[in-house]
Amino acid sequence: MSDYVTVDRRGDVAVVIIDNPPVNALSLHMREPLFAALVELDGDASVKAVVVSCAGRTFVSGADISEFGSPKSLQSPNLPELCAKLETLSKPSVAAIHGTALGGGFELALSCHFRVADKAAKVGLPEVHLGLVPGSGGTVRLPRVVGAVKALEMIVSGKPIGAAEAQSIGAIDAVAEGDLVDAAVAFATAKIAEGAPLVAVRDRDDWRDKDRADLDGFDKAAAQLTKKSRGLEAPLRCAEAVRNSLTMDFDAALMKEREIFLALLSGDQSKAQRHLFFAEREATKVPGIGKDVAPREVKRVGIIGAGTMGGGIAMAFANGGLDVTVLEMSEEALDRGFATIRRNYEGSVKRGSMGADQMEARLARFARTTDYGKLADCDLIIEAVFEEMSVKKEVFAKIEAVAKDGAILATNTSYLDVDEIAASTKRPQDVVGLHFFSPANVMKLLEIVRGRETAPEVIATALAVARRIAKVPVVVGVCHGFVGNRMLASRSAENEALLLEGATPEQIDRVFTDFGWPMGPFAMGDLAGLDIGWRNRKALGTSAVIADALCEMGRYGQKTSKGFYLYEEGSRTPKPDPEVSRLIEEKARDAGVERREISDQEITERTLYPMINEGARILEEGIALRASDIDVAWIYGYGFPRGKGGPMFFADLEGLPNIVERLEHWHGKTGNEVFEPARTLKDAAAGGTRLASMKSTA
Ligand code: NAI
Repeated sequence: MSDYVTVDRRGDVAVVIIDNPPVNALSLHMREPLFAALVELDGDASVKAVVVSCAGRTFVSGADISEFGSPKSLQSPNLPELCAKLETLSKPSVAAIHGTALGGGFELALSCHFRVADKAAKVGLPEVHLGLVPGSGGTVRLPRVVGAVKALEMIVSGKPIGAAEAQSIGAIDAVAEGDLVDAAVAFATAKIAEGAPLVAVRDRDDWRDKDRADLDGFDKAAAQLTKKSRGLEAPLRCAEAVRNSLTMDFDAALMKEREIFLALLSGDQSKAQRHLFFAEREATKVPGIGKDVAPREVKRVGIIGAGTMGGGIAMAFANGGLDVTVLEMSEEALDRGFATIRRNYEGSVKRGSMGADQMEARLARFARTTDYGKLADCDLIIEAVFEEMSVKKEVFAKIEAVAKDGAILATNTSYLDVDEIAASTKRPQDVVGLHFFSPANVMKLLEIVRGRETAPEVIATALAVARRIAKVPVVVGVCHGFVGNRMLASRSAENEALLLEGATPEQIDRVFTDFGWPMGPFAMGDLAGLDIGWRNRKALGTSAVIADALCEMGRYGQKTSKGFYLYEEGSRTPKPDPEVSRLIEEKARDAGVERREISDQEITERTLYPMINEGARILEEGIALRASDIDVAWIYGYGFPRGKGGPMFFADLEGLPNIVERLEHWHGKTGNEVFEPARTLKDAAAGGTRLASMKSTA
């Protein structure tokens, strides 16, 4: 036997124990002895049944990600071969599942005749999140045990389900009451005693006739389930693979599944999604913030301002199970803020994503006040008041006067200098930027802005808190707009220039949505509120001809039903507005700009490439620790299309030399400094380095 796989005999039943810490991944060094053990047990007449179990904290949790994309992952015995061996054993096999049987782990379990799980176990096929289809029979075996539509639901969502649900749909056969392996052995013993003919999952026909008779029903369900795949191939190909399990025989469907898996594996989208998988994990590792830096305890959070952001942030904390005190300037402002919060929750209840009792439980976590003294018991206080330095300083002075020792004082500022805010207090070590994105109860990104003096345990606490409220944190340095908004700003000026030169908001927005963004910059500006940028520009003494003019006309975006577009009563659908077209033409005339036809390609080069360039500068300055952090920020904060991996990853796909050449072209033409290629970008282009894998050296 081997260190990774041992066999324990319990009478007639052989218990195979996989032990490949930490998560029993399907590494080659584990697959080899597992395969050998199965061959041996199959030939051993004294063994009447086989239980496949795992030591440690979980059943096989999936592929070995360190083998991903390397020949090792495909080397024999590979997972399909292991599954086939298990499935064709001449005696009953039972998977004993604890922890999480995900991806390849669940596929292994699905190849056993039976599955027994403990109460806390979870099973699922999350491959879609890596831009893949399950590649070892998941799309062919799961439909045979739970039906095609249920299988597709699990495969397209990638969401694991708990043992009780898994049992109710037939994905597992029993939930263990006591010891899992004892229960699995008892289950196997009962099967031996029953002596019923052994049916492999591949031969099961529980659903076959019903499913095959209703391909239309399947197609409708598939269309519904893949509706939101937004340009991603994997969900559609998952549907195709599951459909094949209905229209083809087992072996043909299995072969086709493997073919789809391998095609996706070598494609750009899966590479992008795998890049993001690692990037997201990497982002939580911050130099100097190791396990030895203990986070502070956070139980109650104070939020100042119950506007767009404050309300959303308060909800995010309440949803994460924390208590929240919301402070506003007046009872009226509190009423307004809480009405919005309640409306948001009611929306969730209406959509069925939350129960009414759950809503009341969340609302019960909120306290409201206009008195700063009530913030004295808060462990973390976040201000989300107007974006003006004087207002922020005034608020921080008030917070400081009441906050307990060691409380973390955070600002949700979009652009302002966190160091300047910190310096206005007597405890700059406790001050940090916690930059949420709108809507804050939905958007996953949290930029944690590390000030010059921010204490390491404050960063550690921010990271821990982010996890509790299910946010994806990225630690960034202080500069105007931090990572996300600074890169955003680099394209804003060009958006305006393109409008003056002849493009329309609709055309530019369409180029963005064609690229895969959920919405274009003008629709997004209208959603976020044009007044935020306007106020910010006024503070800086800069301008944006058209956006400023719109704000001066009181057109702040959706909140005033008018912005770059028109919004009809109660609608969030942008409609082109002739008044805006007239305004753009008038401003172009005033500026002496001759309007012309603008190509979609020009829009891409003048909006996306400056962002990439600014990203390279951000890396150069050490504002981001790694290029992959920038990608994480753009995926989770701004809806950059996942299949393109984020701006830095996308830059490598586009080809850095090409980007540098086009930046130089536009720099020469416009003189706009956003196009002047960053040194890092030029060096990477010349040296053939991948931008997405670069770390900051600053
Ligand atoms: P908002 O105008 O919707 O809300 C601000 C709220 O703060 C108002 O309800 C106001 O009554 C309250 N307030 C102002 N001064 C106060 C004071 N001294 N004491 C107590 N309450 C006070 O603004 P929004 O959009 O929520 O922005 C708040 C902050 O969040 C700003 O710093 C903004 O830059 C930032 N931010 C905004 C984002 C957005 O998309 N709206 C995204 C990320 C950050």
